[in-house]
Amino acid sequence: METVKSGLVDQVFLRCVEDCLEPIMLTNQFGKLTYVNPAWVMTYGYSKEEAIGQTPRLLRSNVQSEEFYKGIWATILDPKIGFWKGELTNRAKDGHHVPVLLTITPYRESSDEIVGYMGIAMDLSEQKTMEQQLLHQDRMASVGLLAGGLAHEIGNPLGVIRGRAELVLAQVNGNEVAASNLGIILDQIDRISGLIQSLLRVSRGPDLVPLKKLNLTNAVNDVLVLTSEECRRMGVLVRTQNLDLEVLADAAKLQQVLLNIILNSLHAIEEQKSREASAVQREHFVEITAKAKDGDRCLVVITDSGCGIPKENLDKIFRPFFTTKEVGKGTGLGLAMVAKLVDEIGGKVSVHSEGPGTGARFEFEFQQQ
Ligand SMILES: Nc1ncnc2c1ncn2[C@@H]1O[C@H](COP(=O)(O)OP(=O)(O)OP(=O)(O)O)[C@@H](O)[C@H]1O
Ligand SMILES: [Mg+2]
Repeated sequence: METVKSGLVDQVFLRCVEDCLEPIMLTNQFGKLTYVNPAWVMTYGYSKEEAIGQTPRLLRSNVQSEEFYKGIWATILDPKIGFWKGELTNRAKDGHHVPVLLTITPYRESSDEIVGYMGIAMDLSEQKTMEQQLLHQDRMASVGLLAGGLAHEIGNPLGVIRGRAELVLAQVNGNEVAASNLGIILDQIDRISGLIQSLLRVSRGPDLVPLKKLNLTNAVNDVLVLTSEECRRMGVLVRTQNLDLEVLADAAKLQQVLLNIILNSLHAIEEQKSREASAVQREHFVEITAKAKDGDRCLVVITDSGCGIPKENLDKIFRPFFTTKEVGKGTGLGLAMVAKLVDEIGGKVSVHSEGPGTGARFEFEFQQQ
């Protein structure tokens, strides 16, 4: 059998580890990082120099609890198990979350004494995004079925009810009480019709109309006209900045998107105000800013001083029917529609919030040409 010199074997192994596409880290027995490979540096954004000497705590996100991490170490140190393998979410240097499948194994010297630990992570970011998209499509498909059925089963009789109510209204002959009651009936019918329409809009296949270059200032102003009275009543300041840009979109869709986001912000501010003691009420705002990005894209950011979004809800709010509002106050279809419309105009949307009381920020990336 061919014998290979141990120095050569070491070199080959080092090259393998250096070239490996999965992030690899080694620590000493005290848990201090002694080595990280280039894939680790790429994935987490820390340089080798920044990482060496730190502990892997550097990568902790607040997605897992302290107990979870204690459980990992208990498993590794349990002589009957001796390693840990599982999914967790790390935090990169710039704060973004990196979902990984991580394996931690101790490594030993000939004396069998543990001299350190090796962690190999497999980045699951792409896989998780795909899973989310599939799940979303699946949900949309079932909402589509439901909406189609509902529109038919409820829509037709509702049309008849509305027609008859209008007829009766024309015949009340100055009976104000009857007229006002019929007015309420008509309003409620319109609310149900509106709900069915939103359901249909959310679940219909993509409606791809040709896009046009639109001036963002005009698009925002059109929406602010609709919300200005509500903002004035609530004492909410609307700040806009750098909106003099063009976006490639459909005017009606862009308006729907902006309107839904601003209305949500106003609701969130209302909620925040009700949580704040009246003595400490602060100034509330909705801020809309934009900037060009990479030549043909632009970033539009809408920030509010509302009640914020708990971390555990951040990945749920675009789902159809997810709402934290009281029954009858929200349908949970607003953001599902936003996500669909943004997709149709070739954009992207993401949400950011540091949790309750800290406001929320919706970031949009739109095409410019
Ligand atoms: N700016 C925001 N601040 C805090 N929470 C928000 C904000 N925007 C959305 N949310 C949360 O996301 C949930 C879903 O929003 P979405 O617009 O889809 O539905 P909704 O506003 O509850 O109902 P509707 O169908 O009437 O719009 C809200 O119930 C709220 O919990
Ligand atoms: Mg809404």
